[in-house]
Amino acid sequence: MFGLNQQRLEAYERDGFLLIENFARPDQCEALRRRAIELVGAFDLAEAVSIFSTREQSRIADDYFLTSGDQIRFFFEEDAFAADGSLRQSKLLSINKIGHALHDLDPLFDDFSRQPELAALAVALGYRQPLLLQSSYIFKQPEIGGEVNCHQDATFLQTEPVSVTGFWFALEDATQQNGCLWAIPGGHKTGLKSLWGRVANGGTQMQILDDSPWSDADLIPLEARQGSLIILHGLLPHLSYANRSPHSRHAYTLHVIESGAGYPDANWLRRSVAMPLRGFD
Ligand code: FE2
Repeated sequence: MFGLNQQRLEAYERDGFLLIENFARPDQCEALRRRAIELVGAFDLAEAVSIFSTREQSRIADDYFLTSGDQIRFFFEEDAFAADGSLRQSKLLSINKIGHALHDLDPLFDDFSRQPELAALAVALGYRQPLLLQSSYIFKQPEIGGEVNCHQDATFLQTEPVSVTGFWFALEDATQQNGCLWAIPGGHKTGLKSLWGRVANGGTQMQILDDSPWSDADLIPLEARQGSLIILHGLLPHLSYANRSPHSRHAYTLHVIESGAGYPDANWLRRSVAMPLRGFD
């Protein structure tokens, strides 16, 4: 029922994105929202304080992020902590996202991510042996939900050749007021502008491949009602502005790559031997 007909596939190839309305039912969206809130509730705030508000903050926080590829971890809004290390508002209203292996470690997110309709979409998009690489639950909090700068997902999830696709699920209505996605239609045809990943000294680095800027004037809003799925080509330039509205904008994202493509060591996202990447099965 969600198969891509020729017309929709052509639109995806032309634009680099595709909106599929009513992909998920309201009760599915609400169940995922409840689970995310439960996960945040169970997360020990003392751990967050030790990671994000210590004097060695940036090294510890970087390490927490770089080792999150096979974990469920919690990342906070930039200004969530006051100078004394306390949260400025409740934990639930301070969290930016959960990542990056919800789809393998949480049964509800596993089921949702491996539903046959998604597997069929991946096949329709040309995947031969798709692997579920990364998942995130993004809160985009009311009033303080931060901006995400214009980027291509292939900058952060590298394969040779480029093979990443993003599945972005609106778990609440996403509007221009609460920070919906924006994208440059056709921008996926202009090539990869940068690569971000690990370097020899253990740190990370952004490597610029093409320093020409994207034009803000080319961006269009991708407003999406609850339950909508937006498929994003890995080379599509996209962003979301800050949320200054009183409404949150929860979304779940899943990134898929092709198993046959090369996966360079420079990728930030690594899996332990005990938890290899899996497909939709
Ligand atoms: Fe993205």
